[in-house]
Amino acid sequence: MKASGSLLLALLSVSASAHYVFNHLVVDGVETGPWQYVRDVAAEANTGYNDNEMIGKVRPQEDINSEAMACGRQAFRTTQSTQTVDLQPGTALGFNIQHDFDSQGNGFDNIFHNGPAQIYLARAPNDDLSTFNGTEGKWFKIASITAAHDTRPNADYWITYGKNRVNFTLPEATPPGKYLLRIEHFMAPQFYVNCAHVNVLGNGAGVITDSDYATFPGSYKLEDPGSYPYLSIIWSHRCFPVSSGFFFLTETIAITLDYKIWNKPGALLNYVGPGPKVWDGSGSSKREVEFIA
Ligand SMILES: *[C@@H]1O[C@H](CO)[C@@H](O)[C@H](O)[C@H]1NC(C)=O
Ligand SMILES: *[C@@H]1O[C@H](CO)[C@@H](O)[C@H](O)[C@H]1NC(C)=O
Repeated sequence: MKASGSLLLALLSVSASAHYVFNHLVVDGVETGPWQYVRDVAAEANTGYNDNEMIGKVRPQEDINSEAMACGRQAFRTTQSTQTVDLQPGTALGFNIQHDFDSQGNGFDNIFHNGPAQIYLARAPNDDLSTFNGTEGKWFKIASITAAHDTRPNADYWITYGKNRVNFTLPEATPPGKYLLRIEHFMAPQFYVNCAHVNVLGNGAGVITDSDYATFPGSYKLEDPGSYPYLSIIWSHRCFPVSSGFFFLTETIAITLDYKIWNKPGALLNYVGPGPKVWDGSGSSKREVEFIA
């Protein structure tokens, strides 16, 4: 199959270092320091990397039910050392990936994987971020950055593909308070998740209702009836886009199935990310899609 051939070639070029963390918050176009406002995370266990080595930290979460789905691996360890940034509603924001992660100087300096990014907020109970893990949080979605166009076989139909920064805006209606600001970028089964500490100022009065909320972990489910999780994800109506850097047989099958769903002209323009609809505080939810000319 022609498509599979080129896909396999693309996969062959994926190395173990094709990972990233979003450790810089960007405020009004200005990049802040690494792990300054973003909770630092731990290296993946049992990979042989020192806990503080970037090459270990950049590894994704692959267990959708893990606590790390909230803010990254063991991010609760840095609840007290992470700074909190004051933000006016309506501020242009972004998350930038790390600039350094491989002591050998190898690696990717861009969002290498083809998939969407979504942004969530969860207000800290009592506005105290220092005791808030995020796992017990109620998260509402403020942006979903999906497909821009459809030019397969290139992966750049995802807006974030090949970029180093994910852009979005803090909704004008966000009520004041202290929040975790969470980014996820994923190419199932790999989830790249990080959280920043933000203090929303102003007097936004948007109403967030129960149906706006997600929990992490919790809201993203491996749908029954699949016996194999990755396959279930693909078959679910949540329609995670899937490809993979690992050559497990099951994933190869998954990729093939995924192709059946998505490898049609224009199909990805109908892609809707998992979780609740995008909240904009206006009382109606919308899907936020940027189209690039
Ligand atoms: C946060 O998570 C850590 C590790 O699981 C746990 O020890 C701590 O009790 C949690 N804190 C809260 C407020 O749930
Ligand atoms: C985010 O904004 C920057 C600065 O305008 C731009 O260079 C970059 O391409 C944008 N990223 C995405 C994913 O659109």
